[in-house]
Amino acid sequence: MKKMFWTLMVMLLTVSSVSAQQKPLVLGKSHAMQRVEVKNHYLLLPVQEREDNANIRVLVGGQQVQSMNIRLAVDKVDYYVPLDIQRFGTKDLLLDIMFYGDRRFTGAMKDFLCWQEMKQSNTFDTTNREKFRPQYHHTPAYGWMNDPNGMFYKDGVYHLFYQWNPYGSMWENMTWGHSTSRDLIHWETQPTAIEPDALGDIFSGSCVVDQKNNQVVAFYTSAGRSQVQSMAVSKDNGKTFEKYAGNPILVSKEEDFRDPKAFWNADIQRWNLILAVGQEMHIYSSDNLKDWTYESAFGKEYGCHDGVWECPDLMKLPVRGTGKQKWMLICNINPGGPFGGSATQYFIGDFDGKKFVCEHTDTRWMDYGKDHYATVTFDNAPEGRHIALAWMSNWQYANQVPTKQFRSANSIPRDLDLFEYNGQTYCGVTPSKEMLALRGKTGNKLPQTGELIIDLKGSTEITFSNSLGEQVVMEYDAVKNTFSMDRSRSYASFSEAFPCKTVAPTYGAMKQLRIFIDHSSIEAFDAEGRMAMTNLVFPTEPYSQIKVTNNAKVTIYPF
Ligand code: FRU
Repeated sequence: MKKMFWTLMVMLLTVSSVSAQQKPLVLGKSHAMQRVEVKNHYLLLPVQEREDNANIRVLVGGQQVQSMNIRLAVDKVDYYVPLDIQRFGTKDLLLDIMFYGDRRFTGAMKDFLCWQEMKQSNTFDTTNREKFRPQYHHTPAYGWMNDPNGMFYKDGVYHLFYQWNPYGSMWENMTWGHSTSRDLIHWETQPTAIEPDALGDIFSGSCVVDQKNNQVVAFYTSAGRSQVQSMAVSKDNGKTFEKYAGNPILVSKEEDFRDPKAFWNADIQRWNLILAVGQEMHIYSSDNLKDWTYESAFGKEYGCHDGVWECPDLMKLPVRGTGKQKWMLICNINPGGPFGGSATQYFIGDFDGKKFVCEHTDTRWMDYGKDHYATVTFDNAPEGRHIALAWMSNWQYANQVPTKQFRSANSIPRDLDLFEYNGQTYCGVTPSKEMLALRGKTGNKLPQTGELIIDLKGSTEITFSNSLGEQVVMEYDAVKNTFSMDRSRSYASFSEAFPCKTVAPTYGAMKQLRIFIDHSSIEAFDAEGRMAMTNLVFPTEPYSQIKVTNNAKVTIYPF
């Protein structure tokens, strides 16, 4: 395998050593304590994914300094996760552990494998061990990832934060992980950005570059006893954040109250913030980023309401070739997507800093695949661009996809704009120009990672297959003006919801397709940016053959 494009973090490579733990103190059926004498940087915790979560409270002198949920190994170790034990600045830690599984199925706690397998070490190896790990898409070095959060651009660097579980590859312990890039393709893992506190786990949110005060301000949902909005300030370009002492800054009686996206609105010379509240979006404004005035709600009687509205975004975009500009509101919804589960819908209209007015009544999707969710854009992107990233998965099976060391990737970066078709305005999605830099020499075989360009002369079928009979079939229908991708004959035993055929409208004739292939994804775009489709695929053996009908010309760029 070629060198990975993302940089793996190999932590503190000093002398590595392993030291046995003392025996645990077993207290009753489900409660145990484990003393840890800190000798090394990390305590490596053994995880068994099919087990229930245990809750670990890390105590120093009787005070809780950290708490997290982790599927501690009972009789098999799937992988290890590192707990930084040096950061507490003491030699003596006490782990107070509550197990939630049923002892009839697990056996006695004293026999659990985790006691034997907890180790101390100065290193944690994040070298890739997974065949489905993407090569040029962003992934976490280890652990679970969902939504992209707090994306901003400053001084030549793109910052990407993300919903992250540092203690396992299933959703839990929401923390903001952090990666940076200069070209949106090569990502470098950075230290953890924002960690859970007594207000709750750190759910999705955004960052703004506050030029006037030379700072970056993060807004996120604290998900504890209730969902409330909090903020944190960074004076070092997003490296470290200090939580605001006046948190929470927005509260509500609504249960689903989350995912704040703030932005500077030049039209009104004020800040705006949009928030997902049940099945509506609430809009606020502010002069100082701390005090927010509620302005209006949007959503009733518009778009799809078959699930909870999440992860909003709101921006002014140019309408191609017209000199006009319009506003677009992004609304991620789960479930309720066109092919089941999660998807990104959008609304086009007008916004005066207080109220968003939608100009259409139909439901519109930004991407017609099944693995495109939580889409939001970078704050302060260069050249006035609106660059979006999506989480490349679907809540229907995200926790079950066949990876262990890490779980989930982000889509390739896409630039958003608007285009007109038959008197209506739609969202245009184009692979960001940075993707062109990956093109080198052309090849003549179907690569495991690369871009295919297909010049279309009418209806065309494109099939990827391997020697095991697994295949993905794509079809452009020039009569119906649709493009489809069928992965129902690809590996899917991990979830009944995975096999599917996704279909997109093409808004007129398509002349050229751009297809990006990585180890576990296919992203297809109309080269003119009027159709996007993102789907995961897990070929047991790489797809090695490509069949194309109707004499369509294929140009292959292996990456
Ligand atoms: C969307 C979402 C958000 C929430 C986050 C929690 O995928 O459900 O609404 O903030 O994930 O991880």
